[in-house]
Amino acid sequence: MKFDTPAGQNPIDAMRVVGQPLDRIDGPHKVTGTAHYAYEWHDVTERAAYGHVIGAGIAKGRIASIDTSAAERAPGVLAVVTAQNAGKLGQGRMNTAKLLGGPEIQHYHQAIALVVADTFEQARAAASLVRVVYTRGRGRFSLEAEKDNAVKPQGGDTPADTVVGDFDAAFASAEVTLDETYTTPDQSHAMMEPMASLAEWDGDKLTIWTSNQMIAWGKGEVARTLGIAPDKVRLVSPYIGGGFGGKLFVRADAVLAALGAKAAKRAVKVALHRPLIANNTTHRPATLQRIRIGANKDGRITAMGHESWSGDLEGGGPEVAVQQTRLLYAGEHRMSKMRLATLDLPEGNAMRAPGETPGMMALEIAIDEIADKLGMDPVEFRIRNDTQVDPEKPERPFSQRQFVECLRQGAEKFGWDARKAHGSVREGRWLIGMGVAAGFRNAPVMKSGARVRLDGDGRVTVETDMTDIGTGSYTIIAQTAAETLGLPIGSIDVKLGDSDFPASAGSGGQWGANSATAGVYAACMKLREVVATKLELDPATAEFADGKVSAGGKSVSLADAAGDGQIVVEDAIEFGDLDKQKVLSTFAAHFAEVGVDVHTGETRVRRMLSVAAAGRILNPKQARSQMIGAMTMGVGAALSEELAVDTTMGFFVNHDLAGYEVPVHADIPVQEVVFLDEADADSSPMKAKGVGELGLCGVPAAIANAIHNATGVRVREYPITLEKVI
Ligand code: MOS
Repeated sequence: MKFDTPAGQNPIDAMRVVGQPLDRIDGPHKVTGTAHYAYEWHDVTERAAYGHVIGAGIAKGRIASIDTSAAERAPGVLAVVTAQNAGKLGQGRMNTAKLLGGPEIQHYHQAIALVVADTFEQARAAASLVRVVYTRGRGRFSLEAEKDNAVKPQGGDTPADTVVGDFDAAFASAEVTLDETYTTPDQSHAMMEPMASLAEWDGDKLTIWTSNQMIAWGKGEVARTLGIAPDKVRLVSPYIGGGFGGKLFVRADAVLAALGAKAAKRAVKVALHRPLIANNTTHRPATLQRIRIGANKDGRITAMGHESWSGDLEGGGPEVAVQQTRLLYAGEHRMSKMRLATLDLPEGNAMRAPGETPGMMALEIAIDEIADKLGMDPVEFRIRNDTQVDPEKPERPFSQRQFVECLRQGAEKFGWDARKAHGSVREGRWLIGMGVAAGFRNAPVMKSGARVRLDGDGRVTVETDMTDIGTGSYTIIAQTAAETLGLPIGSIDVKLGDSDFPASAGSGGQWGANSATAGVYAACMKLREVVATKLELDPATAEFADGKVSAGGKSVSLADAAGDGQIVVEDAIEFGDLDKQKVLSTFAAHFAEVGVDVHTGETRVRRMLSVAAAGRILNPKQARSQMIGAMTMGVGAALSEELAVDTTMGFFVNHDLAGYEVPVHADIPVQEVVFLDEADADSSPMKAKGVGELGLCGVPAAIANAIHNATGVRVREYPITLEKVI
């Protein structure tokens, strides 16, 4: 099904099942332990051996020698895989460094060997017997030190520089100006479930049970890396214990499990142990951001400038931190610029709303600062600088943009009127403050396919390689099929995360919910047509409701329509260029109230509110949970999350969940979410967008701004730890 004009009336609009706050249909599997996560395929693993990954002990240089002989003789050891015996490996398109390093080492904890043994303990014990001698090279590990060597990044989907009007002149002549630099640190995904894979060969066919957000991408990457045909590769990932971008791509666990299984001639399972993950896998790169804003005394922005520096390995890309600044506020004269330094730290890549998360951590403090300089309320200042068109390309309107409504409703509901002058509210030892920030994240659309089967018992099974990273894909897909086919949700079975199913949008960039359900909608519409035609009913007027299809006075149950057999159809939603004619984005206003301890500088978030406008909300209960989870990540980004860089040795020091601190719901007593009533006809037949990342983008700045309101102290370096406030 092609989607190239705005959606008209369709079966989803009935909103009998879609839009209901239903419980997760996969919930019972999770709480009864029958949901299979990657390391838990016990029926397969009875035959499986265990692989233990060894990570490089230097950040840059070469392996001078590697001696695996003692490990090979150790009890239970079946194989030791290294670059020397693994055969020639190809390079995936989505990873910068090799997933099996050696002799050249590209980053600390790059995998250099896999020890395979009968038991996990044997594999781990034998790994300690592998002797590696390195020749250490000189690496570059500090973004600040390399800033002046940064260059304009080449390639990529996003232009490095944009210029509109004459920024320099407008900034120079502005009545009020701001010129500040902000920093955001390296961050780790820190999802609950580590990367894990179980690989098994059947002749030349490879199956990998894994934990991966993007099955079709992953299948291609495994094939490229191992140098085999994609149709020989099957990836299975029905349940994922959090991805956060860390599982968008195939990592060493999958590739090494496959190599280990080949060498040991057994199924092999490999989990990246927690202390390996921070340096072996990808992370969100640190940024330095300079923001210049010029405004007139009436509070209108005249000049908007945003420059961002980040680093990555040779061949990597920039953190796209200027993205939102190109779209969020009006202003005639504009410039934005990204520069990329070469760093020999582990590979940087997508994490929890890449681009906008760190970008808005900076921009939304800057907006607060200039509003202060103008003596304007920051809510009012944002409203005054709203734009309904792309400020860089005014011929491109937003499909929908209720940013002002989010701010107004949020201010009202949060009690923003009660906000006092900076540093003026004290309750005992706590200084109290409120902060606000915009929420913004683009809403991309992606081709997505599904297969739908109607059985003689009237049940419908949906199959798609879409994943559920814990956010609720199973349920919204069932809701979509139930709505489109006029069935109760209990009549729908959903099967996900298998590359034998039609390729979907996958889970990333908050495109999954809208695109994947639209693909299911397309397949269900095709099923309606096939059923109606089979019954000699007019497909155009046939109604599907209450388990029946009816037209022209005739009514047949779907079970009878299938008869003794099955009806199986497959289709995909394909998006035209609507998203180029209009900007598809999601908006929010994030509010936070904090208390800051006058003695210790400790910040406690007392309450949070996010008001969001993000198209049709397919399941308000799940969407609210996604928002709250993302808001909690925002608290982490604001207050605690930072990978500490050892700039001498070139690695992230705090490489586990004891040293890398993430908040939990219990840290924040009150979190509220409000969704504005919206249906975006330009986004898909579902008229939905996405909320998973919107709930994060902007939140850290709302907290930073609340700390400033509480204390009068402006911190521009994240995370805002105690010593920076004191
Ligand atoms: Mo997201 S960082 O696209 O999983």
